[in-house]
Amino acid sequence: LRIVSRLADLNLTASSRVGFVPTMGAFHAGHLRLMERAKEDNDLCVVSLFVNPTQFGKNEDFDKYPRDLDRDAMLAEEVGVDYLFAPSVSDVYPRPSTTIRVPVVTEMWEGAQRPGHFDGVATVVCKLFNMVRPQTAYFGLKDLQQCIVIKRMTEDLNMAVLLKFEPTVREADGLAMSSRNVYLSGNERQVAPLIYQELRRCRAALNVGEDVASELRRSTESLGAAGFSVDYFALVDTETMHHIEKPVINAAIIAAAKLGSTRLIDNILL
Ligand code: PAF
Repeated sequence: LRIVSRLADLNLTASSRVGFVPTMGAFHAGHLRLMERAKEDNDLCVVSLFVNPTQFGKNEDFDKYPRDLDRDAMLAEEVGVDYLFAPSVSDVYPRPSTTIRVPVVTEMWEGAQRPGHFDGVATVVCKLFNMVRPQTAYFGLKDLQQCIVIKRMTEDLNMAVLLKFEPTVREADGLAMSSRNVYLSGNERQVAPLIYQELRRCRAALNVGEDVASELRRSTESLGAAGFSVDYFALVDTETMHHIEKPVINAAIIAAAKLGSTRLIDNILL
C-alpha cells in the first residue's frame, strides 16, 4: 500500500486498468467489499479518502465525522489496495469551485432533507474521477440516491468511467453498515435494525399485492412507535427517484430516520 496526499505521487501508468473506490474513510466491511471488487476486476485498486466539506450542511457532522488514517490504512493494506489517496481540503479546493448540479434526481429525499448535499457529492466525485482517471468506479447501494445521481452525472457529461454498484453489507442483525453507526448509543444500536426489518416486512407485503400507501404508513408508524423520527419511508422508481404508487420493475423502498441525533438511511430493492 502507498499512502499519497499529492496527486503528482499517484503515478498510474496509462496501460494499467484502474479500479477506484471514493470514500470518506472510517472504513467498515462495506468499504472493504468495494475495495475487494475493485482489486478483483482491475490491475490496480485506488481508494480515495477525503472527508468532503462541500457535501455537509452547516449543522451537520463534518467536524465530528470519524477520522483515523492509521486504522484505515491498515484495513486497506489487508485487502490489497495499491494506493490510498488522501488529499488535503486545500489541494482539492484551492479556491471556490465550479459546482456540478444534477437536476431532478437530486430534488427529493436526501436532496430535500440536505440542501446542497448532492451538489457537493457530484462535484467532488467528478474532480476525483478527473484526478484518478479510473476505468471503473465502485459505490455501495446503501446510498441508493447517490448512486443514481452519479450515474446521471456520468451519462449527462459523457464521462468515460464504468460504474459498479454493490449490494449493501449488513451487520448480523440487519443494520446497514455505515460509518455513522458509531454515533449510536447502546440502546439506539439495539433499536436501529428495525429500519431493515420494516423494509423487509413492507417489501414482502407489497410483493403479495397489499396496498402500498397503507403498508408504507404502517412501517412509518411502527418506526415512530419505536422512537425513530422518520424523514421518509417511500416507494420509488430507481430510474428517476420519483415516488410511485404501484410496484414496478426497478422499484425500491427507501427510508431515512433519526434515532436520537443520528440519521440513518437504508433501502431495499423490490
Ligand atoms: O459515499 C461517500 O462516502 C461520499 O459521498 C463520496 C462518494 C466518497 C463522495 O465524497
